[in-house]
Amino acid sequence: MENVSYQKTDNTALITLNKADTLNALSKSLISEINAVLDRIEADCEIYTIIITGCGKAFIAGADIDEMYGKSRAEIWDWSALGSGLNLRLEKMPRPIIAAINGYALGGGLELAMACDIRIASRNAKLGLPETGLGVICGAGGTQRLPHIVGESIAKEMIFTGKTINAEEAYRIGLVNRVASPDALLEEAFALANAVNKNGQLAVRAAKEAVGFSRNANIEDGCQFERQKFSALFETEDQKTGMGGFLRKEKNIVFQNR
Ligand code: HXC
Repeated sequence: MENVSYQKTDNTALITLNKADTLNALSKSLISEINAVLDRIEADCEIYTIIITGCGKAFIAGADIDEMYGKSRAEIWDWSALGSGLNLRLEKMPRPIIAAINGYALGGGLELAMACDIRIASRNAKLGLPETGLGVICGAGGTQRLPHIVGESIAKEMIFTGKTINAEEAYRIGLVNRVASPDALLEEAFALANAVNKNGQLAVRAAKEAVGFSRNANIEDGCQFERQKFSALFETEDQKTGMGGFLRKEKNIVFQNR
């Protein structure tokens, strides 16, 4: 992989985008490299949690403006399916994904971060959806995900003005879960991943699916879906390990994830 590296530590995969010359702008080739890494991760059952970060001063400074500029309506329709498809893939992937936002997360970069499950920002990160200043709007889910995360009126303000906000402001509006010092960003992301990895992964994956289901469901259907997942987990060894371990007052419960 030329511009996307991938490193496995225990049960966590760290994906790093390394295209510093364009601040990791999402081009067709960078998106296909990310997809190729995700293919390898999906095939590795030892990986429970994924962290995505960028090199240098950017997480991702948006979709590649050079690549988009001359495209026709039909061409950009097809091209935007790549970004949109990648974000849907991340959102549906049955593993928690943490965006470790080390710097600029703009446009398509923030859209990708919003498709991750949890966001941690470095104190010097800058986030925003500047597309209206380029005469366009988000094309990879930004208008759809931001209102769910921060509420409609704050989302509209960010999208209409295209303003860039800092990490503290992003934390204040709930766009990121926490803020870390630049040096501690990956350490915090790994600590969070480890806190997830020690739990039953069948349960964690069911939880991701159930929370995802809530977006388009009414409360009755959502609770029904949750009950189905809850009941199905009673057929797993993990449920016996977890609840049995509690009843036996065991201290360190180790799940086999089956
Ligand atoms: C292509 C980009 C880029 C981008 C930066 N670069 N962002 N190239 N697409 N989105 C390139 C610059 O052209 C420059 O190349 C190099 O990266 C370094 O960037 P600088 O601008 O010199 O750095 P700096 O002055 O520090 O400014 C950083 C910045 C600025 C504030 C992040 O680069 C910027 O505003 N970038 C564009 C952000 C943006 O508008 N994103 C939204 C894109 S639209 P050279 O060759 O000059 O060194 C979008 C739609 C999504 O994302 C649709 C999805 C389907």
